[in-house]
Amino acid sequence: MSERKQFRAIKGTRDILPLDSALWNWFEHSAREVLESYNYNEIRLPILEETQLFARSIGTETDVVSKEMFTFPAGAGGSAGDLESLAERDEAQDLITLRPEATASVGRAYIEHGMHTLPGNAKLYYIGPMFRRERPQKGRYRQFYQIGAEVLGQSDAPAIDAELIEMLLVFFARVGLTKTTLYLNSIGDKNCRPEYIERLREALHKVKDRLGADSQRRIETNPLRVLDSKVPEEQEIIAALPRIADYLCDDCRAHFAKLKDELNLRDVVFEENWRLVRGLDYYTRTTFEVTAAGLGSQNAVCGGGRYDGLIELLGGPPTKGIGFAIGSDRSILSIQETGAAPKLGGLAVYVAWMGGAAYPTAVKLARKLRAAGVSVELPGEEMKFKKSLGLADKLGARYALIIGENEVASGKYALKSLADGAQRELGENELLEYLESERRGTGA
Ligand code: HAM
Repeated sequence: MSERKQFRAIKGTRDILPLDSALWNWFEHSAREVLESYNYNEIRLPILEETQLFARSIGTETDVVSKEMFTFPAGAGGSAGDLESLAERDEAQDLITLRPEATASVGRAYIEHGMHTLPGNAKLYYIGPMFRRERPQKGRYRQFYQIGAEVLGQSDAPAIDAELIEMLLVFFARVGLTKTTLYLNSIGDKNCRPEYIERLREALHKVKDRLGADSQRRIETNPLRVLDSKVPEEQEIIAALPRIADYLCDDCRAHFAKLKDELNLRDVVFEENWRLVRGLDYYTRTTFEVTAAGLGSQNAVCGGGRYDGLIELLGGPPTKGIGFAIGSDRSILSIQETGAAPKLGGLAVYVAWMGGAAYPTAVKLARKLRAAGVSVELPGEEMKFKKSLGLADKLGARYALIIGENEVASGKYALKSLADGAQRELGENELLEYLESERRGTGA
């Protein structure tokens, strides 16, 4: 007999199992509550988009676009066979990509649905998976999840940036992610950045021989990215390079100064980091990142910034924009590793029934409890009380509800706490009341 292949989740993807999924649901639910309290509304976006959308928004020289996208032929003949002819295709619009991020999609949707005609700013959030072909490690996956928020409209007032950042930190505090650092920078705009990039490139050429191959290549393709380098030997050289702060034009300088005032007004603590340039090309002015404890090298739990030219680049009207994306995988990992995770989910009541006469009562009572929001496990087969109480314990139930023929006759049921063995005799209404209040955490 031939041995059957056993399948495993593909590299860089994983299953989120119970009860971790309860923590994920709580995390995402908390985000919805906080974001909606700031008047952001959810947009649900497709996972597939034209490859060109990402190439144009994120930039063809970025790591994400040049190395990390999962891209396929879009047509009906999009089979693996077609992949071989990809190199010959110059009609790149035939290609589609699993989204590596969602800001580009939000920009596409904003234009497609004429959202610039809506009153006020469009304040949107999204929750879902993103895909990047990166080398998997702790906190880095090929399918990972983001919670993102974006504001698009006519105004680039620093108060918008500050409120967005305040909201982010309010959310992190809500879910117990408090050992965090917020890094902040301004990378200028199309008026002042080109000159800075030229000065930076000149300075980099002078030290080229002392840089590694990656940084040497970036001098030509994307010199700002050299500032991101983590190579130990390059750190001292980078520290001496020209800094963007010295090249900001008056408008960008005033915007950054006002943003810092606005953050102080909101008691948002930040650290300025002139090397924070971010890995996507659409950014202008404000950039920020948040790192968290317990994560090792992949410790950025959120990245964001302003992208005032993006909508025009995608063929839309002049529009200002700013947003962020929280990495859910890493944030939840940090919450777990720092011991801030609440205990969630799990079974409240295991119904231990015995005797033919008890069964119909058990079925009806289980339905009533479930309707009241209590989680109930009702075994489909009769078991001795000893065995069902043992199983209730193994399943982690908080209570066993004992229903035998005597209980049916008296209309009083025994509710046994599996934590301390305490037992209460309760009629149906008392039972419902007790379990409902226990569920609300009042423990009455
Ligand atoms: P990003 O910095 O590329 O920005 O990603 C945001 C966050 O997603 C990161 O800080 C990290 O927590 C998480 N992340 C990224 N790649 C991975 C991965 N391979 N595995 C696990 N987590 C990951 C953006 O995506 C921008 N769209 C953010 C933005 C929105 N800017 C303006 N609006």
